[in-house]
Amino acid sequence: MTTQRVTVFGGTGFLGRRLVERLARAGCAVIVAARHDGEIAVPDASGTIVFRRTDVRDADDVAAALDGADAAVNAVSLYVERHGLSFEAIHVDAAARIARQAAEAGLRLVHVSGIGVDTRSDSAYVRARAAGENAVRQTHPDAVVVRPSVLFGPDDAFSSSLRMLARLPVVPLFGRGETRLQPVHVDDVAEAMARILERGITGATFELGGSGVHRYRDLVRAALDAAGRHPPRVPVPFALWRALSALLAVLPSPPLTRDQVILLETDNIVGEQAQTFAALGIEPRDLLRFLTQGR
Ligand SMILES: NC(=O)c1ccc[n+]([C@@H]2O[C@H](COP(=O)([O-])OP(=O)(O)OC[C@H]3O[C@@H](n4cnc5c(N)ncnc54)[C@H](OP(=O)(O)O)[C@@H]3O)[C@@H](O)[C@H]2O)c1
Repeated sequence: MTTQRVTVFGGTGFLGRRLVERLARAGCAVIVAARHDGEIAVPDASGTIVFRRTDVRDADDVAAALDGADAAVNAVSLYVERHGLSFEAIHVDAAARIARQAAEAGLRLVHVSGIGVDTRSDSAYVRARAAGENAVRQTHPDAVVVRPSVLFGPDDAFSSSLRMLARLPVVPLFGRGETRLQPVHVDDVAEAMARILERGITGATFELGGSGVHRYRDLVRAALDAAGRHPPRVPVPFALWRALSALLAVLPSPPLTRDQVILLETDNIVGEQAQTFAALGIEPRDLLRFLTQGR
């Protein structure tokens, strides 16, 4: 193990928490940096976990969170712009701030982004993620960028939404349900990130997808099969989904956003040339098995 003390920005989140637990079990001293205290307890940890209240928009907070660390991870996310928080502030400006301060302090950095980032996307979220990656690479050329596909695992949003479809009398599909997805288990991504830190890998980009590439409609069918229900499935054009998401945007917590619709319009799979789990000796799990067997 080369890394002893790691600051995990977003260490209370769905992915960040898994990484914090994995690192603490391996004996690391982990600093969890987020705005709200999370309840992370790792029964058999040989390392330590401390929480430092941090808003990544504040340079002093970021400096305090990095103090004493050997490496940093940025697993902060914002999926909906609200309460004055913008994608630009979190995914570009704060990402660059963390990268700059980590580079100045001589710390290694793992920056979490996502498969499919594109500066020309229709989605403000996807454009900001792409700009954030560029800013991180310019500021901290040794940083490792990790791009997961959609995450699944206990209590995740994606497979929960698939399971909920079984309760509907009619299941509306995104378009004809032909978009290809490669959902990845959150623990597999956390394991990959831990190995990147442990092996001292620098200056690389990893795209992390699960073992199976599936069309959206096949994932829906698997979720319905698992529930033993087979309501009719109806194709719904993406233009209608975009219109619906525009209406839902007035809600404080919209169940569907324009950015999510746009993400589902394009295949979200690991690139043919991309460096992925195999380089880290990990065999990722498959969402189909998780939907049918729960693991
Ligand atoms: N979930 C997916 O399917 C998926 C797919 C591909 C890529 N990713 C990427 O994976 C990473 C982690 O995603 P996730 O789903 O685990 O996110 P998440 O569950 O929403 O967690 C976000 C984390 O960021 C922290 N955070 C948010 N705003 C902050 C701020 N201003 N200052 C400090 N901390 C802040 C949150 O804590 P506080 O709110 O308490 O501050 C929380 O710990 C993100 O980069 C995301 O884009 C996720």
